[in-house]
Amino acid sequence: MDLSACDVLVVGGGGAGLRAAIAVAETHPNLRVAVISKVYPMRSHTVSAEGGAAAVIKPGDSLEEHAYDTISGGDWLCDQDAVEAFVREAPAEMLRLEHWGCPWNREPDGSIAVRPFGGMKAQRTWFAADKTGFHMLHTLFQTTLKYDVIQRYDEFFVTKLLVDEGRCQGVVAIELGTGKIHAITAKAVILCTGGCGKVFPFTTNANIKNGDGMALAYRAGAPLKDMEFVQYHPTGLPFTGILITEAARSEGGWLLNKDGYRYLQDYDLGKPEPRPVLRSMELGPRDRLSQAFVKEQEKGRTLEGPYGHYVHLDLRHLGEKLIDKKLPFVRELCLKYVGIDPVKEMIPVRPVVHYMMGGVSTDIDGATPLPGLYAAGEVACVSINGANRLGSNSLPECLVFGARAGKVAAAFAAELKAPSPSVLTQAHDEERRLEEKFRRGRGAKERIATLRAEMHETMEESAGIYRNGPALQKAADKLRSLQERFRHLTLDDHSYTFNTEQTAALELSYMLDVAETIVQSALQRTESRGSHQRTDYPERDDKNFLGHALAYRAEDGPPRIEWVPVTITRWPPGQRVYGR
Ligand code: FUM
Repeated sequence: MDLSACDVLVVGGGGAGLRAAIAVAETHPNLRVAVISKVYPMRSHTVSAEGGAAAVIKPGDSLEEHAYDTISGGDWLCDQDAVEAFVREAPAEMLRLEHWGCPWNREPDGSIAVRPFGGMKAQRTWFAADKTGFHMLHTLFQTTLKYDVIQRYDEFFVTKLLVDEGRCQGVVAIELGTGKIHAITAKAVILCTGGCGKVFPFTTNANIKNGDGMALAYRAGAPLKDMEFVQYHPTGLPFTGILITEAARSEGGWLLNKDGYRYLQDYDLGKPEPRPVLRSMELGPRDRLSQAFVKEQEKGRTLEGPYGHYVHLDLRHLGEKLIDKKLPFVRELCLKYVGIDPVKEMIPVRPVVHYMMGGVSTDIDGATPLPGLYAAGEVACVSINGANRLGSNSLPECLVFGARAGKVAAAFAAELKAPSPSVLTQAHDEERRLEEKFRRGRGAKERIATLRAEMHETMEESAGIYRNGPALQKAADKLRSLQERFRHLTLDDHSYTFNTEQTAALELSYMLDVAETIVQSALQRTESRGSHQRTDYPERDDKNFLGHALAYRAEDGPPRIEWVPVTITRWPPGQRVYGR
């Protein structure tokens, strides 16, 4: 086993991870900081973010409005102290990125250009055409290169958090190119591994998004918060799930059913207007738009193709010039993946799993209940997104809370002496476990693809846009049995160099853990709120459920759920009103 050490170890090289690493290097230049990532950082999923990043910048807008939109959009499940910190710090973070070189689109007068986004009362979404994540990630990555103290472990896959003396003290990881096992000790670890969309069959998420960090924290004893809240993005391409950005609707795109009718007018989302109206119709929040799709499908008003039901996104009236200037990636994706040109043809779209509102429970500084362990970005639930995130809030979330977690983790690490020597015993145990599980087994009993397909089917059927108790209970039982069957998984490939079968098996084990927390939390939240719609409990129930579900790992059984209240500072629960 290879041994190395650093002061702060960031797991994940996307937007939150790189921002956290920079914060450590800036605030504590004497600390050694390392970024470990299972892919080269520029392949992190942040790269595929398209539409933009929200932060108040224009006259007439205010931090209060951004906070209120976020809290009402989240159906009052957001912690309001976290939201207040988020909206306050987002503008400075976005400007900082500008100073580091991010090419934000500009108005003719040179000021920052913004576009409207779903559920927001003001235009506050900064963008770089429709490749915002690509430009943000490049900017962050090139900024990390300025700091000699930031070391990288590219293409290393973390399999375990080392926890000793009641605190997190590092990780065990496989170096994917060689199969070699590494123990990397650290005084603080920051998880920035993103979400877990791949738990579902249709998702905008990259193949790497398997809930790795969520499962690592959960196994180490930290709770996962609000896992029942799964965001469907209303416009993904059928089959591939590739995202067609909300920016297409903010620029004026229409959603049409099979009769060519702008059906959102039937769902309390306003009336069709010639130009996009904030918080109205196609600029409504994602949960409501995805739910409207299901209702249209039930009424027989969607189209049906080889990959299921879909509706049309019509951009033709926007014209080639605007599409090429503001939505070039949408055009490229449609041409390459469905062979249609949105300048001339309508785009088939359907709701697809896009984002997890839940994640590793953290405080406002990214600290988890496990000392020495921090989390930021989609892997974490801080929680600013409540029951339904507003589009374009997640990129600034990565910046604000990546920076916060980096600073606080650095301060924690600066006070500590070296990790305890006994963590290495655990690292050796983990090496033995990996060896026995993945290298010795012969004769396949269970196959990765079979278990994964059954998990996908279970999640799609039980934990989709609409849920109910019996289906969730059936799913909980099924996931238990898949966990048991996973123990009998054997691999054919026992090689050491880029053993993708082993990686897939480890990812499946993470996904099964995370899937159980989603289903168990959804089962126990007997109300409907935001993206969690129970047909057997159709009303929001503030009396019993104005709280966060915390899922804890139980030794042999489904996760244990505990409840903690939502933090309300200034905005008592109210009705969510859109379309006017
Ligand atoms: O549609 C989009 O561009 C997605 C943005 C987001 O999820 O924040």
